[in-house]
Amino acid sequence: MTLDRRDLLLGSLAAGVAAACGTSAGPRPASATAGARASDAHAADAHAAAPARSAAAPAKKSILVLGGTGFLGPHLVTAALARGHTVTLFNRGKTHPGLFPGVEKLHGDRDGHLEALAGRSWDAVVDPSGYVPRIVKASAELLAPRVGHYVFISTISVYARMDTLDADESSPVETLPDPSSEDVKAHYGALKALCEQAAEAAMPGRVSNIRPGLIIGPGDPSGRFSHWPTRLAEGGEVLAPGDGSTPVQYVDGRDLGAWIVRVIEDRATGTMNALGPERRVTMRSVLDECNHALGDKARLTWVDAAFLDQQGVAPWSEMPMWIDNHGETAGFGTLNNRRAVAAGLTFRPIGDTARDTLAWLATLPEDQRGKARSSGISPDKEARVLAAWKARK
Ligand SMILES: NC(=O)c1ccc[n+]([C@@H]2O[C@H](COP(=O)([O-])OP(=O)(O)OC[C@H]3O[C@@H](n4cnc5c(N)ncnc54)[C@H](OP(=O)(O)O)[C@@H]3O)[C@@H](O)[C@H]2O)c1
Repeated sequence: MTLDRRDLLLGSLAAGVAAACGTSAGPRPASATAGARASDAHAADAHAAAPARSAAAPAKKSILVLGGTGFLGPHLVTAALARGHTVTLFNRGKTHPGLFPGVEKLHGDRDGHLEALAGRSWDAVVDPSGYVPRIVKASAELLAPRVGHYVFISTISVYARMDTLDADESSPVETLPDPSSEDVKAHYGALKALCEQAAEAAMPGRVSNIRPGLIIGPGDPSGRFSHWPTRLAEGGEVLAPGDGSTPVQYVDGRDLGAWIVRVIEDRATGTMNALGPERRVTMRSVLDECNHALGDKARLTWVDAAFLDQQGVAPWSEMPMWIDNHGETAGFGTLNNRRAVAAGLTFRPIGDTARDTLAWLATLPEDQRGKARSSGISPDKEARVLAAWKARK
């Protein structure tokens, strides 16, 4: 089965469901501004822990969020408010307009209608809704004279290759075959890379380009990770992909949101892969931990990658988080996150994310719950593949 990596890594383009915003992982550590970054390859377990953040309250910042009401946005807004910062949201007022009633809201379409931002100043802007370089350039250029720091939310899909273990931020990024294209579905990674460059060109030395991997947890509209807690909590025999040794990476949206606030507080500029956890984990350890957190109701049957392929089971979409890692995808699940960890990115246990995701799903109306768990193999197909696997043995 061939795999389109851009499909696999495509970020959350779908409209979101209301995010149940947990609070941040809690205060951590001041450290490392960008200057504390290490660029050499690292052993996954060799990260130095970021020094503890001082108990003193952070200097209050005014933060503009271009968006803020989808999936990641609410987590970072919640974290910023919890740290005492002042937040302004700029969006079209379409996605979850009722969120954050006490927060200042400016309305406009960032494609050509930034009038509401004119003449205003902020300490920092976070841009989670930029996908097209022309549009990011417009906001970054408009804000450059009156904003100190531009935090652009990019993606690990910028990388042109995923075939090297432990690749860091210096790895080559995708290029756009047709420079005039703004087709985000076809060229998500290349366009995000150009967005990063557009922000940096407008505000040299004042930009953080944050490259998350799969963002998971409460509020995720993509339905990807949700398959696992849902299925494990149902119990019984559960189809698990590969031999269990495949490395996987992800980041809970709440940990990412809290860390983005820290990046602002510390003014940590530069480019950082934002995914974890800190030490390398495997598909087996992740599913075992989730199963345990959900009451150990499931029995995992590990089915090898070649067999899944023969049975037409799609990695990532039907087996969320999982991509068989060799050849073109040999480096999948092993991206170097040392810069982000040195700058204070922390990771809650995956079992907590599983429990909280399930609790969040239970709060959704039935139609939204369906969408928020739309990924993952269907029960019929799972049963068929498990039966075929046993018959083959
Ligand atoms: N999900 C993943 O696994 C993943 C992985 C890697 C990277 N990422 C990146 O993480 C980010 C996730 O962002 P999110 O969607 O969760 O952010 P968000 O800020 O929570 O939601 C998107 C916001 O953008 C606003 N918006 C959309 N189009 C707009 C426009 N034309 N003008 C003004 N506002 C507009 C929406 O409000 P209105 O609709 O009301 O305008 C909404 O508030 C993305 O940059 C994505 O590429 C995601």
